[in-house]
Amino acid sequence: MSTERDIKFTAADFRRLRQMLYQRVGISLNDSKSHMAYSRLAKRLRHLGMRQFSDYLDLLDDVGDEAEWQHFVNALTTNLTAFFREPHHFDLLRLHAMERAQQDRHYRVWSAAVSTGEEAYSIAMTLLALPQLNSQRLEIVASDIDTKVLSQAADGVYDSERIKPLDSKQLKRFFLRGVGRNAGKVRIRKEVREQLAFYQFNLVAPEWPDMGRFDVIFCRNVLIYFDKPTQAAILQRFANCLQPDGLLFLGHSENIQHLSNDFQSCGRTAYRLVHPAVRS
Ligand SMILES: C[S@@+](CC[C@H](N)C(=O)[O-])C[C@H]1O[C@@H](n2cnc3c(N)ncnc32)[C@H](O)[C@@H]1O
Repeated sequence: MSTERDIKFTAADFRRLRQMLYQRVGISLNDSKSHMAYSRLAKRLRHLGMRQFSDYLDLLDDVGDEAEWQHFVNALTTNLTAFFREPHHFDLLRLHAMERAQQDRHYRVWSAAVSTGEEAYSIAMTLLALPQLNSQRLEIVASDIDTKVLSQAADGVYDSERIKPLDSKQLKRFFLRGVGRNAGKVRIRKEVREQLAFYQFNLVAPEWPDMGRFDVIFCRNVLIYFDKPTQAAILQRFANCLQPDGLLFLGHSENIQHLSNDFQSCGRTAYRLVHPAVRS
């Protein structure tokens, strides 16, 4: 490890940290992430007046300080996202919702690693724009393990730079522009924010609460941080909480071939739940 560092961080500390993160949230850090782990946590250790990582890891492991665990997890997640990222998914979502708009039940969508909210608001904007779908019948659940990004998502405030992929109709209907000290920012309108329910949710928790069945699950750009057995276990759980013919959207570099028989491809990183009778 670098001698320039003011806080002691040994190779053994990194191995221990990696193991603790894996057990808690399923994220597998490879050797190249040691510098990232140091730089993301060093500030926290300085804040706590600690001079070595081993003391910090003891605080988590031995004392079991839950609030500190959350700081640890929040620091080590990667939250990159954008409005209408992978736009082809929203075209499929629109078609799927239109086909089901007349059903006498709610249309339910889960954004299972929502980060700062752009994905869930893109889902809301897509569905609220459909005249066929009654907004009273629409339910969007947005979850993440990271409480810091979840709180940003619930606030729905973004730098104007981030709304470049949106057209003027969407901006007018779904956003408010900041003025005065909020100039350069936009906020999602209250009626759209209220369409979403936010929860902290750990995809690798031993038990999942019963959330009912969803028509669509977005779980994009998070499986990539997990190892194959963890990915397979999560896919199985997704299959159990989708409606027949429900859709699963994954991230652009996530491939579930050989990991599950429950889904068949129906587009670029888009999958449809296979009817149980057809599964091998
Ligand atoms: C790269 S972001 C993806 C955001 C969005 N889905 C997208 O594709 O634009 C990955 C998100 O997964 C979340 N995450 C990581 N491990 C998780 C876990 N075990 N349970 C739930 N969310 C997790 C992170 O906090 C982060 O916000």
